[in-house]
Amino acid sequence: MSEFSQKQSNTVSSFDVHSIKADFPILQQQVNGHPLVYLDNAATTQKPEMVIEAISHYYRHDNANVHRGSHTLSDRATARFESARDAVAGFINSPASCQVIWVRGVTEGINLVAHSWGRSNLQAGDKVLVPWLEHHADIVPWQLVCAERGAELVPIPILDSGDIDLDAFAELLDERVKMVALNHVSNALGTVNPVAEIIRQAHAVGAKVLLDGAQAIAHYPVDVQALDCDFYTFSGHKLFGPTGIGVLWGKQALLDAMPPFLGGGEMIQTVSFSGSTFNCLPFKFEAGTPHIAGAIGLAAAISYLQGIDRVGAAAHEAMLLDYTLALAADIDGLQRIGAPRQAASIFSFLLAGSHPSDLGMLLDQQGIAVRTGQHCAQPLMARLGVPGTARASYSIYNTREDVDALMVGIRKAKSLFG
Ligand code: ALA
Repeated sequence: MSEFSQKQSNTVSSFDVHSIKADFPILQQQVNGHPLVYLDNAATTQKPEMVIEAISHYYRHDNANVHRGSHTLSDRATARFESARDAVAGFINSPASCQVIWVRGVTEGINLVAHSWGRSNLQAGDKVLVPWLEHHADIVPWQLVCAERGAELVPIPILDSGDIDLDAFAELLDERVKMVALNHVSNALGTVNPVAEIIRQAHAVGAKVLLDGAQAIAHYPVDVQALDCDFYTFSGHKLFGPTGIGVLWGKQALLDAMPPFLGGGEMIQTVSFSGSTFNCLPFKFEAGTPHIAGAIGLAAAISYLQGIDRVGAAAHEAMLLDYTLALAADIDGLQRIGAPRQAASIFSFLLAGSHPSDLGMLLDQQGIAVRTGQHCAQPLMARLGVPGTARASYSIYNTREDVDALMVGIRKAKSLFG
């Protein structure tokens, strides 16, 4: 059970998974002749009717470009777009809405920080620390900027459990470390990283901390002020919102001091051939026409989440993982990969005698959607000595029956693999 659900375990839950599931039209279908069992939520979540309707309503009634129009539709679109930013600010407890920068997703959020903050703050001899656990999006942008600046990208060792080795982390910390970048929750193993402790220790040597919240945001409440992180980024599509929209949040003093990332319209104050001056936050980082419908859809997703019992949802997801582990223990040859101290509702596994991608195909034939492969975490797979894994990742609409179906599917695959 997560810290969040444990804290709240004495409250009476109004969470009803069957009524939640009914809010997601895509889940009411058959795939390959079986009811769809969607267990690929770490890759993307499905969208409730409310989000689909908000996007459709925007395009049917309010579509126009934002900020620069002098007509009613543009005013309406701008109001909805900016109120979406306010909704995000409230959702993550940002002190101000201008600290919420719209990006395409986590990958762009990290690239923005690496290229803007990194280029202007990293010097030769500086270090950026990134755990072995990381998604490629938390590694490669820092590799690029470190190579350019003569800085060093240093991996933080992990334990076989899939937890960060905190002793090794403490040993790596010194005044040359300028940035610690890590995921809040691992996409590949579900590890919930001890980010409060990592942030405290990083700040003690003057390093900044960027948290990739792609996986955490749909499972746990995120309070950027309580976390005291320097940057936090998440993608809308993993939070029941649309693809192509995400958020980079940063401390205002850092964002104010950073140069623009992309140049173009909206991010400027004045332009001349002798030089340009730049807009204030958040627009300095929002060149070009933004994904207006995406922001509106994401605000609808946040509103949907705010209307459900999130404490009950977290307890439900924790139950699904516990139930999975209990059933998995009865299947010979089924091996969980990683066993983090605290895990989000992600079950990464291998079945003896089968390749994960063959297993994924056999499960798909039974209507069960899981992800197989390296989960954009090649260094982690190499560290664990596995070719990849099959991964079932749960969300608020998954049921115990979905877990039962997964186990039936695995047993059937096992019988076919011999
Ligand atoms: N990073 C996404 C995943 O873990 C795509 O599936």
